[in-house]
Amino acid sequence: MTGAGGVAAGSSAPPLRTLRWWDVADVAALEAQVFGPTAWSAETFWSELAADGRAYWCARDADGVLLGYAGVAAAGPDADVQTVATAPAARGRGLGDALLRACEQHAERAGAAALLLEVDATNAAARRLYARHGFELLARRRDYYGSGADALVLRRRPRADDGPTTAADTAGAPAR
Ligand SMILES: CC(C)(COP(=O)(O)OP(=O)(O)OC[C@H]1O[C@@H](n2cnc3c(N)ncnc32)[C@H](O)[C@@H]1OP(=O)(O)O)[C@@H](O)C(=O)NCCC(=O)NCCS
Repeated sequence: MTGAGGVAAGSSAPPLRTLRWWDVADVAALEAQVFGPTAWSAETFWSELAADGRAYWCARDADGVLLGYAGVAAAGPDADVQTVATAPAARGRGLGDALLRACEQHAERAGAAALLLEVDATNAAARRLYARHGFELLARRRDYYGSGADALVLRRRPRADDGPTTAADTAGAPAR
């Protein structure tokens, strides 16, 4: 069961639903736990939800605990994965996979010819996730995250096997 605006997640991952304003406090708390000093603030997430072309999803467990979230910006030929994160205790169950797939499907539905993102070159778990989804290296940005901390710019083009998505996938998604 996915609930209103939900998206069935893969494997044993919990279902996704559209991220709403009442999720922001929990999202900001998980963001701080996951990204530390580079975390986005609650205000940044508010701005994201209000911005054109954004779509965000989250997942909670049966007790309402936030397990993960992701968002995409899709307003032109190139869409961007804005963020993907899952709670440490929720990892390895396919939630990251489902969140990233939601971003890909939204970008494709919005007509984007490519989906881009930036990832810390040392972030092995995220790089494996993106490689599984067909993201390829486009560029390397030296010292993007500080001295000696490079970012990789990855790009994914739509694949023939991505398939159509249903209207329920974006019901209630934040509009630009
Ligand atoms: C990167 C990140 C989002 C991945 O999230 P996740 O929920 O663990 O992702 P998944 O569960 O889909 O995949 C993780 C691993 O579990 C495996 N897995 C998925 N479902 C599984 C299942 N049911 N049983 C066993 N293994 C499973 C995947 O194959 C994958 O294995 P791999 O890392 O060896 O390739 C998460 O590690 C994270 O939030 N990291 C910190 C934030 C971050 O770096 N975000 C990206 C910034 S660019």
